[in-house]
Amino acid sequence: MLMGNLSVFLSVLVFNQCSAYFNVEKRQDCFCQLYGTIDECSCNIDTVDHFNNVRVYPRLKSLLLKDYFRFYKVNLKRPCPFWSDDSKCAMKDCHVQTCPPEEIPEGLKGQRRPSVSAGPSQKYSKRTNEDCETHHNDLDYLNKTISEKVQKDMQMWEAYDDATDNFCVLDENDQEAEYVDLLLNPERYTGYSGESAHRVWTSIYLENCFRPKKSFSFNSYIQSHKLNELCLEERVFYRSVSGLHASINTHLCADYLLGNGNGFALGKTKWGPNLEEFRRRFSPETTNGEGPNWLRNLYFIYLVELRALAKAAPYLEREEFYTGDESNDWDTQMAVKDLLNVIKSFGDHFDETTMFGDTEQAVKLKQEFRQHFRNITRIMDCVGCDKCRLWGKLQTNGLGTALKILFSGKFDRLIDNRSLDSLNKKEFQLQRSEIVSLINAFGRLSNSIYKLDDFRQMMR
Ligand SMILES: Cc1cc2nc3c(=O)[nH]c(=O)nc-3n(C[C@H](O)[C@H](O)[C@H](O)COP(=O)(O)OP(=O)(O)OC[C@H]3O[C@@H](n4cnc5c(N)ncnc54)[C@H](O)[C@@H]3O)c2cc1C
Ligand SMILES: *[C@@H]1O[C@H](CO)[C@@H](O)[C@H](O)[C@H]1NC(C)=O
Ligand SMILES: *[C@@H]1O[C@H](CO)[C@@H](O)[C@H](O)[C@H]1NC(C)=O
Ligand SMILES: *[C@@H]1O[C@H](CO)[C@@H](O)[C@H](O)[C@H]1NC(C)=O
Repeated sequence: MLMGNLSVFLSVLVFNQCSAYFNVEKRQDCFCQLYGTIDECSCNIDTVDHFNNVRVYPRLKSLLLKDYFRFYKVNLKRPCPFWSDDSKCAMKDCHVQTCPPEEIPEGLKGQRRPSVSAGPSQKYSKRTNEDCETHHNDLDYLNKTISEKVQKDMQMWEAYDDATDNFCVLDENDQEAEYVDLLLNPERYTGYSGESAHRVWTSIYLENCFRPKKSFSFNSYIQSHKLNELCLEERVFYRSVSGLHASINTHLCADYLLGNGNGFALGKTKWGPNLEEFRRRFSPETTNGEGPNWLRNLYFIYLVELRALAKAAPYLEREEFYTGDESNDWDTQMAVKDLLNVIKSFGDHFDETTMFGDTEQAVKLKQEFRQHFRNITRIMDCVGCDKCRLWGKLQTNGLGTALKILFSGKFDRLIDNRSLDSLNKKEFQLQRSEIVSLINAFGRLSNSIYKLDDFRQMMR
């Protein structure tokens, strides 16, 4: 949609909202059954549903089991750069030390994580009955187990990566970064909530998004009908963040801890969808009408990342996905190519070329956009739950990589596939962790859209 064409934008927005409500009443469907086009894009919700659930989701599901995508290197120890951690009680390590500050050794104050030498099992068994902000802290347990063989493999991967002239600085090259096995630590309900979680979301929305004036309300950070006061780029930013938020909250509802509250010991827990939780988080009645808009934003961010993958396809098709196991690497290459072919075949991609023109103002806006987004990736260091932090970092880095592909300009020439060899390949090299986070982040969005279908069926 063109910038400045606000009346059209507004009417589409209003139309979309109305049709969503209308259908709730008339068809007794789930409020999460959305209709019509996705804001800022020209394609329909049900087109995306079908495309994702039938074609993309099954491919990603098997691709993400591959070693190359399974191990993510991340620093979860960096302290929050923006505020001192008054939310210690929400973190599991505070349960090893005791919560009152006077009992924390002087030298550790101000640092997020006291270094406790006890092994993980001892550490976690001690703190089950603590009465702090979050109740079920075992849910946040991060299993860092990585077999010796894989550890050796990783050294080999790193040596290989170093030999290929990486030049960016990410978590990946951070001394404190560690590999985490994503399959052992699925994103799901952790019980992380309360002040700490709200503070993170609030600072993401209130401090880092461009906002229409006087838009804050107690029910939502931005009321959707005020979005038309923003320019296209600003709306895109907000919708991406909101879509990510919707995706995270959909996951925790779809992979919720079921059972009667006593089964918190590791290994005894049962996980599955929680329709009531989903309803509470997204139904119009409980969200002042905003829930369906948030879900709509989920489709929006899906299209943004989908477009980034299509744009980077000529590059990704040549990536080796090196893990040292030739036949496995070949399988991965084939599976990625297959996925990219499906993605490229999607008819109605998000059109990033309408964003950020060449004017001085637009260049400045782009800079701000980037700064704000980088800031969001830093705010992830303030997430007070290890597992949430892991997936929060992975997903914001994945979105950041998508934005880099779409807007840095470096990838624009890639569309012309013949030029790749003649250009300096280094120029648009992506690091392993960028590729891993991009594909995994997209996998999370794909999974959320797929899970919405489950919720729809449960409601019938
Ligand atoms: C980075 C991060 C990762 C997290 N990962 C997990 C996890 O893996 N597992 C887990 O169980 N919990 C996770 N959480 C916590 C979870 O997101 C919620 O914060 C928590 O469950 C409390 O939910 P809530 O109902 O209070 O509303 P919150 O989700 O905390 O939202 C706060 C307010 O934001 C508004 N809002 C909600 N959704 C949207 C949206 N999509 N768009 C715009 N505005 C919205 C509403 O007004 C709401 O009251 C994570 C939190 C963060 C910050
Ligand atoms: C962590 O994962 C490993 C490998 O699957 C498993 O053997 C171990 O029991 C897990 N640890 C815990 C505490 O669940
Ligand atoms: C980054 O975020 C922090 C915390 O929300 C805020 O204090 C700071 O002003 C932000 N900086 C920029 C450049 O947005
Ligand atoms: C990409 O390469 C294929 C096969 O060589 C060719 O048919 C196609 O036209 C190329 N596309 C572009 C945009 O250059």
